Amino acid sequence: MNTSRISTVLRNGKAGDAVTIAGWVRTRRDAKTFSFVEVNDGSCVASLQVIADQSLPNYQADISKLTTGSAVACRGVLAVSPGKGQAFELRAVSFTVFSTAPSDFPLQKKHHSFEYLREIGHLRPRTNSIAAVARLRNSMSFAAHTFFQERGFAYVHTPIIGTSDCEGAGEMFRVTTLPPDNPPRDENGVDFTKDFFGKKASLTVSGQLEAEIYALSLSRAYTFGPTFRAENSNTPRHLAEFWMIEPEAAFFDLGDDMALAEEFVKYLVRHALDKNQDDLAFFNERIDTSLLATLSAIAESEFARVSYTDAIAILEKANESFDFKVTWGSDLQTEHERYLAETTFGKPVIVYDYPKQIKAFYMKQNDDGKTVRAMDVLVPRIGELIGGSEREDRFDVLRARIVELGLSEKDYWWYLDLRKYGSAPHAGFGLGFERLMLLVTGLQNIREVIPFPRWPGNAEF
Ligand code: 4AD
Ligand code: MG
Repeated sequence: MNTSRISTVLRNGKAGDAVTIAGWVRTRRDAKTFSFVEVNDGSCVASLQVIADQSLPNYQADISKLTTGSAVACRGVLAVSPGKGQAFELRAVSFTVFSTAPSDFPLQKKHHSFEYLREIGHLRPRTNSIAAVARLRNSMSFAAHTFFQERGFAYVHTPIIGTSDCEGAGEMFRVTTLPPDNPPRDENGVDFTKDFFGKKASLTVSGQLEAEIYALSLSRAYTFGPTFRAENSNTPRHLAEFWMIEPEAAFFDLGDDMALAEEFVKYLVRHALDKNQDDLAFFNERIDTSLLATLSAIAESEFARVSYTDAIAILEKANESFDFKVTWGSDLQTEHERYLAETTFGKPVIVYDYPKQIKAFYMKQNDDGKTVRAMDVLVPRIGELIGGSEREDRFDVLRARIVELGLSEKDYWWYLDLRKYGSAPHAGFGLGFERLMLLVTGLQNIREVIPFPRWPGNAEF
């Protein structure tokens, strides 16, 4: 079928053009001798209004019975619309009805709660908001690739199934083919040498360690893929399966890393403002009326930078009753992160040099013996958007840290080898793609910004 996208018709069409569009009926209203049928094809927020005259041969049989959710195609002539809010309408010359949705189609109302929509994940992309999320997600993925491609970073496909733990024990989904009821055992318990890979395997929590391998060969690499965390986090900011963009660069120090992260976030926000104006206008109107102002401010801002130690001093002095007390050495909670970004600085802020006991084993230790060259990018409304660091490139220091944390030196043999053969300073970060989506949509809950959300107790499809 030679159809035009409704977005293209509305943007480039002229009165008198003969066009064919196809999509799903949003509403049908009947006048005396014709019907107005609103058709949406998901290419943009706007629907196209089709005028179907009763002289059409299938008017009585099909068109006059059209229901919300039905699938149709319309061939006709574009005309300047006398109605408000739309440039064109389509005067149908022929009208095909592929299927009529029964009256129990769940999206009858104009507004549904997001909680309700989560229960119908197979139909929710037919709503304006979830379709706009999908278009924006597509656009942000493309922009992320473009950003790194333009800067000489190679896209590396890191594995989904892994046998090492990047971020620290206890949060991984096991991958196994052993029978759950009666696995083979040895004197230590389950005998994983009999498992599919001959050892314990899990879904990856991060592609970083493997990205480091390629950064120490190609100089600049990045990975963009799904990551998995089995932590029992039921928050509007956590998913059990989420996507992460992780660049890694050799000959980068923490300052270079922070500069890259700032440039990346601003690039993505600017891309959304430039290329997704309709969808952002929709979110600005329906979801968060300060969205466009916030995004423009971020695109123009210079991110603040503050050491963890100074950030703690700010929070201790803050005239604010936090749920979690702040003391040097404790991890920042979302409330603290938001306070820094929203109240103290009023813009994104990069906190660096965190205490080593709250960060992962691979981060480069500072000479003070207490802190590591870590950085988190915190943004208003969300808190942590990016976590990254310079990596420990000294063999002895890294091995000592692995031993000190009770990790197995044997498991990380290849990671240590990279510090033995051509070790070089290097750094990288991970941007949580759904956190970015929260930022650019103004939506409140991360379950709305991924097509098929997984969280504790929920994995439909
Ligand atoms: O801070 P994280 O745990 O860092 C890493 O995984 C590093 N290996 C990244 C690197 O240096 N290459 O996670 C990075 C980001 C967080 O800042 C957050 O945006 C997001 O991933 N994130 C989550 N997003 C959704 N649900 C979760 N459960 C998330 N956990 C982390
Ligand atoms: Mg983090």
